Amino acid sequence: MGDAKVTDELRATVRDELPEISEIRNVRLRDKVVEAWATALAASSFSAIGEIPPSGNPDTRRLSSGTQTDHMRGVARLAMRIADELKDIFPALPVKRDILVAGALCHDVGKPWEFDPVNQARWQASPGATGFPSIRHPPRGVHVCLTVGLPEEVAHIAGCHSGEGELVQRSLEATIVHHADYTFWHVLAAGGMMDDGKAE
Ligand SMILES: [Fe+2]
Repeated sequence: MGDAKVTDELRATVRDELPEISEIRNVRLRDKVVEAWATALAASSFSAIGEIPPSGNPDTRRLSSGTQTDHMRGVARLAMRIADELKDIFPALPVKRDILVAGALCHDVGKPWEFDPVNQARWQASPGATGFPSIRHPPRGVHVCLTVGLPEEVAHIAGCHSGEGELVQRSLEATIVHHADYTFWHVLAAGGMMDDGKAE
């Protein structure tokens, strides 16, 4: 992930921004979620998740109030409710809750890369040479997750929560995060909570 230094200050910022981390029972998994975000931020121009523009993609409309942190928390909370409510009615539903929460919190861990204004300017200057973007946030998220030692199931959620997931069969947990993610943007857009701009 380059030479960027992952500091304790950055780890503390991530813990403060994402209180839903406490829903993960496995302490090592919890720490790796923090490490993933701190590592992704350290390699970017951002020093907090809340500094990343609050949209699904760099060129789609933004929340009119609220932050990218609210997106991560909202998706994690929606994902937990989907799993818990359906498990209440269908106890056999084989949801791995720790993987689900870790995956929901990390699904956009590639955004510090894709949304970075330095990268955006670089790609825009020469799209034929670099691609635009060179790598979208889902595959970048896979790289971050595997670099910090998160399990394959969490990397799969980061990689397949969006359009890339249409090329594969999503896991149960990735399916839940995918729908929680789209629900977040579509419900808030329908409620007039997003700026005008290109549709999601
Ligand atoms: Fe998202």
